[in-house]
Amino acid sequence: MTRRRTFWEERIEENPGHSAWYIQRWRTMRENGDDIVGEGRTIDAMVPRGARILDAGCGQGRLGGYLAACGHTVVGVDVDPALVAEAERQFPAATWRQGDLAELDLPAAGIDAGFDAIVCAGNVVTFAAPGTQRDILRRFGDHLAPGGRAVVGFGAGRGYAFDTFFDDVEGAGLLADLRLSSWDLRPFTDGSDFLVAVLRRTA
Ligand SMILES: C[S@@+](CC[C@H](N)C(=O)[O-])C[C@H]1O[C@@H](n2cnc3c(N)ncnc32)[C@H](O)[C@@H]1O
Repeated sequence: MTRRRTFWEERIEENPGHSAWYIQRWRTMRENGDDIVGEGRTIDAMVPRGARILDAGCGQGRLGGYLAACGHTVVGVDVDPALVAEAERQFPAATWRQGDLAELDLPAAGIDAGFDAIVCAGNVVTFAAPGTQRDILRRFGDHLAPGGRAVVGFGAGRGYAFDTFFDDVEGAGLLADLRLSSWDLRPFTDGSDFLVAVLRRTA
């Protein structure tokens, strides 16, 4: 079956400078002294020292790079080859792979599954090809260690409703243990415009 192109790839097709712009955007924030690793600190607090962490839709590696510097074993996967190349350049301590999360199969690439945590931050699920999110979540479940957790964060109004996400979570054999509205752990309510969901395998 032909792979469905992600929204991110459509953006690149519309504007070939998109990836370079995105890399520069984070570089500028870092140079300005902005905090660009907050999600990483939350993940670091959830796992034992020296954990295995998958940065799913890693972009240019800001979070996986931070987590590798904390001493974790990090694998990052992203569909955008320019961002993966930038992650490799900036953060050689982690392993970076180009690929579509909807087809994620790291053991086939010689990388063990069994991650203690999967971080999927920065609206990745809203940039995926529509209708592939359930496959992505199922792949997350396949790559979790017993007791491992996946954390997915994304905003409202981006074409992927929170209710649809929770249906997909259930359909993928996962359970939302915790629903938050921010990476600094504020509760999710009916009016929340951002979701951070902490997921684990049902069985
Ligand atoms: C806004 S960026 C966020 C990058 C990174 N997570 C961060 O927060 O810095 C969204 C990323 O999701 C990636 N992405 C979207 N759908 C994907 C998919 N199906 N497989 C792999 N990467 C995907 C894009 O290539 C892009 O790098």
